[in-house]
Amino acid sequence: MCGIVAARTTEPVAPILLGALKLLEYRGYDSAGVSIRTSGGDSATTRTIDRVESLEARVGAWSGAELPGTGIGHTRWATHGAVTEQNAHPHQDCSGRLSLVHNGIIENAGALRRELEEQGHVFASEVDSEVIGHLVEEGLRHDDDLARAVTAAVGRLEGSWAVVVLDGQTDRLVAAAHRSPLLVARSARGVFAASDINAIGEWVEHFQAMRDGDVVELADELRWSRGGLASEEPPMADSVWTGASIGVDGHPDFMSKEIAEQPDVAARIVDRLAPHVLDGSLWADLALPHFDRVTVLGCGTSLNAGRMIGGALSSLGRVPVRTLVASEAADAVMEPRTLVLALSQSGETADLLNAIEHLDLTRSSLVAITNNEHSTLARRADSVLTCDAGPEIGVAATKTFVAQVITGVAAALSALVASERMLRSDAVRHSDELRLMPELLAHAIAVSHEVLPAIVADVLDEPGFLFLGQGTGVVLAAEGALKLKELSYRWAEHQPAGELKHGPLALVDRGTPVLVIDSGDPRIDRSIAEVDARGGRIVRIGGPGSTVPVVGLGRPAGPMAGARRWGPLEAVVPLQIFARDLALALGRDVDKPRNLAKSVTVE
Ligand code: BG6
Repeated sequence: MCGIVAARTTEPVAPILLGALKLLEYRGYDSAGVSIRTSGGDSATTRTIDRVESLEARVGAWSGAELPGTGIGHTRWATHGAVTEQNAHPHQDCSGRLSLVHNGIIENAGALRRELEEQGHVFASEVDSEVIGHLVEEGLRHDDDLARAVTAAVGRLEGSWAVVVLDGQTDRLVAAAHRSPLLVARSARGVFAASDINAIGEWVEHFQAMRDGDVVELADELRWSRGGLASEEPPMADSVWTGASIGVDGHPDFMSKEIAEQPDVAARIVDRLAPHVLDGSLWADLALPHFDRVTVLGCGTSLNAGRMIGGALSSLGRVPVRTLVASEAADAVMEPRTLVLALSQSGETADLLNAIEHLDLTRSSLVAITNNEHSTLARRADSVLTCDAGPEIGVAATKTFVAQVITGVAAALSALVASERMLRSDAVRHSDELRLMPELLAHAIAVSHEVLPAIVADVLDEPGFLFLGQGTGVVLAAEGALKLKELSYRWAEHQPAGELKHGPLALVDRGTPVLVIDSGDPRIDRSIAEVDARGGRIVRIGGPGSTVPVVGLGRPAGPMAGARRWGPLEAVVPLQIFARDLALALGRDVDKPRNLAKSVTVE
């Protein structure tokens, strides 16, 4: 997924584009570039395969004509074509008159390129997006209206696109979108388009999310069209977050800040939802039909959050639950009266949107659990549970995982109460557990920072790591392994502890780090003994006496003692911090790990 921005302002546009690109860089950081219309009536394009800072230096060194108020920018997550300056966006047409930035994949780019080359067009890159510029150029030969030329061009495309075209000659800007997110906004500061609101939050208060098939001219009056005909504009939405809340606030990186925010995020969600759990109103207000079974859908960390919520529904309410990896789900069989829980912090992950599009949901209801209420997923769902974690910039999800689980479990408890699948006394006990989450997370953060540095130093050079869990702990083991892979690039595997002796135990050698999530299931001790016997290095994340005693406030007795029916969610904190600390010790960039992006809007 890439990040794109466009702006038409009355002030110098370069600082605005560069500021926005810095806030979009978590969407892709293989290369970056800007095109700005000059006072000389053409456009100045600068690109780099380095970060936005180096682009800033290049723009600063620009010695040509003045760079007033119109421009476009891009940060790239490479899908087609190597990471080179030639393949970096913005791309041009043959004359250099047009510049464009694109997020998405053009599936028929090969055929279009061959056709355009036969017409004499010369391509400068290997990138699929470049065909769009040449198609618009072709269109302008027959009709000098940029909006119509862009409409004709996207009419030839197959795949997904959020694209903005700048005409250096006429100073016109036109955007088009199809199966890729793009927001448009106007304010006293100018007219803007961006892949997400974080990038332009500081300059606008309201925005419109482009729908599939929309084309809009970014002029003082926004001109919306579809298929070349004027169309009504999408609904206006309020921008909740401003630029001010997207800094590291004194932390060394975003991941550190977002881990530290988890107790407050949990408190905010619990305060909002817990009062509506026991009377079932949280669920009843979603106005969904009765369900007999649940299907959980998601990718990456969101899938793990879904697994925890699904685990709560099946262990607390005996609801049949299946979990599907979104990229494998498109042809799953859907039974009637299925509740589909689709989780995505960004709400824009293409694998998930694609699965939802292909699944037969006619006899099911779709609930989205997302951190972005204006996302494509939210627009497609029957009901939306917003997990309200605030912007998450670190590519590896942390606070949104905790927010999704707490939001989902609160809704699950309320659904079980509303459908009389749970005794009130049980509901009271479990919602008490939810209310304790802020304190549990804060305690886990304090203990983790105390005990983990020595452990990290001990296992720093180990080539591989094993994560084990039993019962509800298995999902946390999966999340722990995922975090370590995402951030440290070390091999990590998770296993249900009971599976160890059926194969994975062969991985354990003297000193092999084995992180065990102890959710209170006594069977875990057998697996620990098996690892111990082979000299493995056990790191037990559990209650009192554990290597990392974070579970249940580390108190032997009290409300959290004994086997947990879902979670222990607080055990994810040492897994996040362990992965971060080990990655930092290896010199990794924990906010922008290699080869990854915050959410992938291409299949
Ligand atoms: C990956 C991110 O691209 O997508 C992960 O790096 C994330 O952190 C996964 O969990 C799913 O993204 P989302 O937005 O659908 O939750």
